[in-house]
Amino acid sequence: MRALIVYESLWGNTEKIARAVAETLAGTGTVDVVESDSAPASLDGYDLLVVGGPTHAFSMPRPATRAEAVTSHGAPHAPERGIREWLAGLTAGLASIPVAAFDTRVDKPRLPGSAAASARRELRRLGFDTALKPATFRVHGYEGPLLEGEIERAHAWAAGLAAAGSRG
Ligand SMILES: Cc1cc2nc3c(=O)[nH]c(=O)nc-3n(C[C@H](O)[C@H](O)[C@H](O)COP(=O)(O)O)c2cc1C
Repeated sequence: MRALIVYESLWGNTEKIARAVAETLAGTGTVDVVESDSAPASLDGYDLLVVGGPTHAFSMPRPATRAEAVTSHGAPHAPERGIREWLAGLTAGLASIPVAAFDTRVDKPRLPGSAAASARRELRRLGFDTALKPATFRVHGYEGPLLEGEIERAHAWAAGLAAAGSRG
């Protein structure tokens, strides 16, 4: 199985989840884990795609929310091209491989909306098999850290994805 994990992360919390997922998936094959900035335009040769990002303003980040994160909330990093823009650049009908989306969100307050749900809608529109259940991982405040146990939850979620990728 060959898996591609594409993530966006401003404070590094989503990246930590992406790397935990990669660690588990590596047990069943090859895994490429890349930031959205440098993610490939083609999914040729992959059996599984995992897309993860932070939830910003109830959805996937936008240029304005990234700018706000940096200027108003002191985020140390913002990609030029986030997962929203990367997905927008993929061609419809490219592949029917299984895809799974995850996001990170604040623990308190619990807000509606999820980057994973938005990413999954976009992936479905592109023709991917989006049957895999998305996952949300919680952080303290905007900057994190992740809540205790979230890395373990990421490993467990990834174990389910590994089974799906191998079947494909
Ligand atoms: C501009 C902005 C808007 C946000 N909007 C939401 C939101 O609607 N819902 C939510 O749960 N978290 C929201 N957050 C918190 C982010 O989800 C949190 O910063 C993220 O999970 C941290 O992950 P990262 O370290 O990978 O960037 C927002 C954060 C920023 C900077």
